[in-house]
Amino acid sequence: MFNELRITPSILNADHANLRSEIAKIAADSDLVHLDIMDNLFVPNLTWDFSAAEKIISECPIPVDAHLMINDVDRIALDYASAGAGSVTIHIEAAKSPVQTFKSLKKIGARAGMALKPGTEIEPYADLLDEVDMLLIMTVEPGFGGQKFMANMMDKVRRSKDLIGDRPIWLQVDGGVSLETISIAREAGADTFVAGSAVFNSPDPADMVKMLRHRASDI
Ligand code: DX5
Ligand code: ZN
Repeated sequence: MFNELRITPSILNADHANLRSEIAKIAADSDLVHLDIMDNLFVPNLTWDFSAAEKIISECPIPVDAHLMINDVDRIALDYASAGAGSVTIHIEAAKSPVQTFKSLKKIGARAGMALKPGTEIEPYADLLDEVDMLLIMTVEPGFGGQKFMANMMDKVRRSKDLIGDRPIWLQVDGGVSLETISIAREAGADTFVAGSAVFNSPDPADMVKMLRHRASDI
């Protein structure tokens, strides 16, 4: 069965001083721009605060895929949706009232995403799949770009794909996705691919996005 693919480049390792031109390089070839929000509490790293993120979201020529790696995420997630993010993903490990948050995100008009750290299994949260538009399986420990792809997460991707079944839920992987690893994740059932350093460390980021898409489509 033909499955649509999405490439969602992460700007975490792009040039933060020139984000507008960095995003302009990849926008035409990408489906969404992946925005990693970290609070130095849920993960040991700090990125954009809400007002900086709001500016990025409002200026981005394509929808933003906000990946919130923050504590107290339930309330703030809704602010990202109200700011216009196309998709807002919360970590289940940080959520206090996930069902209510997913429902509220969708009501505001964003896609609702649920993320799992490498140590978190999908089965305890299988019931929540009825509430989400996307499931994100982390293929690195969240916090930093440029880490090695955890191929041992592919079993979780496969089990997630089975649990999703016929539901139109995007299955995203994030961390260490490159020309070498994207087909491994695609074979396991992922259809939405975050790539940060592979794209922005490339001399031609737009071409890298095209090559990643092509590599994933070969499967
Ligand atoms: C890590 C972030 C990722 C990161 C991916 O916590 O969630 O989105 O930017 O970067 P690469 O593709 O370099 O692993
Ligand atoms: Zn991310």
